[in-house]
Amino acid sequence: MAILITGGTGYIGSHACLELIRAGRQVVALDNLSNSRRAALTRVEGMVGRSIPFHQVDIRDRAGLEGVFRAHEIDSVMHFAGLKAVGESVGQPLRYYDNNINGTLVLLEVMRAAGVRSMVFSSSATVYGDPKRVPVTEDFPLAATNPYGRSKLFIEDMLRDLVRAEPGWDIALLRYFNPTGADESGLIGEDPNGIPNNLVPYVAQVAVGKHDKVAVYGGDYPTRDGTGIRDYIHVTDLVIGHLRALEKLASHPGLVTYNLGTGRGYSVLEMLAAFARAVGRPIPHEIVARRPGDAAECWSDATKAKTELGWVAVRDLDVMCADVWRWQSRNPAGFA
Ligand code: NAD
Ligand code: WQD
Repeated sequence: MAILITGGTGYIGSHACLELIRAGRQVVALDNLSNSRRAALTRVEGMVGRSIPFHQVDIRDRAGLEGVFRAHEIDSVMHFAGLKAVGESVGQPLRYYDNNINGTLVLLEVMRAAGVRSMVFSSSATVYGDPKRVPVTEDFPLAATNPYGRSKLFIEDMLRDLVRAEPGWDIALLRYFNPTGADESGLIGEDPNGIPNNLVPYVAQVAVGKHDKVAVYGGDYPTRDGTGIRDYIHVTDLVIGHLRALEKLASHPGLVTYNLGTGRGYSVLEMLAAFARAVGRPIPHEIVARRPGDAAECWSDATKAKTELGWVAVRDLDVMCADVWRWQSRNPAGFA
């Protein structure tokens, strides 16, 4: 039996394929290549020494998906496929709702028709909106502040409704904090299209000389050094959390929800200092105005995943930065 990885050539999906195969599982990858390249999976194939079945299919393409479920014996789905750029979602809300919400709806219908009722879903800490306090626990009130966040929140609601209405589904909602890092080999990593929106890929591109300096968004937050605090989590720890969640689903718990974070926050300046240690020289930066919509602090309480899944993130900020740097410095043009 195989695990279908939607978004399997993407940043997190490609690392999930690698870690699942390392753990002895069979995977089938699917992606429409709208934000990734087949080359990521080719690298993974080289690392594990075997080929990985890949289908270039859009999750909104019902017939295409049905073909994938017919071609393989799939018993669960890790659902990473989705558009994820917050700013872009504000300008193109219908594209985000169609891709993320409609795509997930079609996927669920095809899964049901194929008798597959186990899914690990990529949710996000974005569903907590601007949290009133930190650390954030899973029972915090849910809110969204942009179309991307609303798409994640709506999918969560859809999945909660489904499990309530149709017993037999087992679904894990995994709320990621700030995924970063890369496999320690330096062979795969995050390869964003265009100018990165997120802090770490931007810092990495400054370090290889693609941009002059990092704009630090806001130096006047009520935090220890005035800059925003986030819970950066290594992508390898993150995908190992998915394996633990999949094992949990085997005991038929219905719907379960976990934060995937480290349980501690680092400021932008602390991240820049850690990256400078990895590179061996300072990262040029300048404090500028706050970015609209940013929270001062967002970091997880990771106790629930530890207690119920036996999972904790073990890779610290220095490991995250060293691994990003190994990937970025050896692949300055990404997978191109
Ligand atoms: P990514 O863009 O690298 O990977 C997503 C993949 O999905 C891409 O390869 C893209 O081509 C594919 N895709 C998009 N729409 C598709 C469609 N309709 N049909 C088939 N494939 C499609 O992003 P990622 O960072 O690997 O994120 C994976 C998931 O995790 C996403 O759902 C994202 O919202 C969620 N997430 C990411 C972060 C983060 O900071 N990276 C944080 C929280 C949640
Ligand atoms: C981190 C910190 C910025 C860029 C986003 C999404 C969230 C989730 C993860 C998907 C903040 C600061 C950033 C820069 C900076 N994605 N920053 N200069 O905003 O916490 O979360 O990605 O679900 O939904 O909103 O991540 O990496 O953009 O920012 O100073 O050039 O770095 O202000 O404090 P964020 P980020």
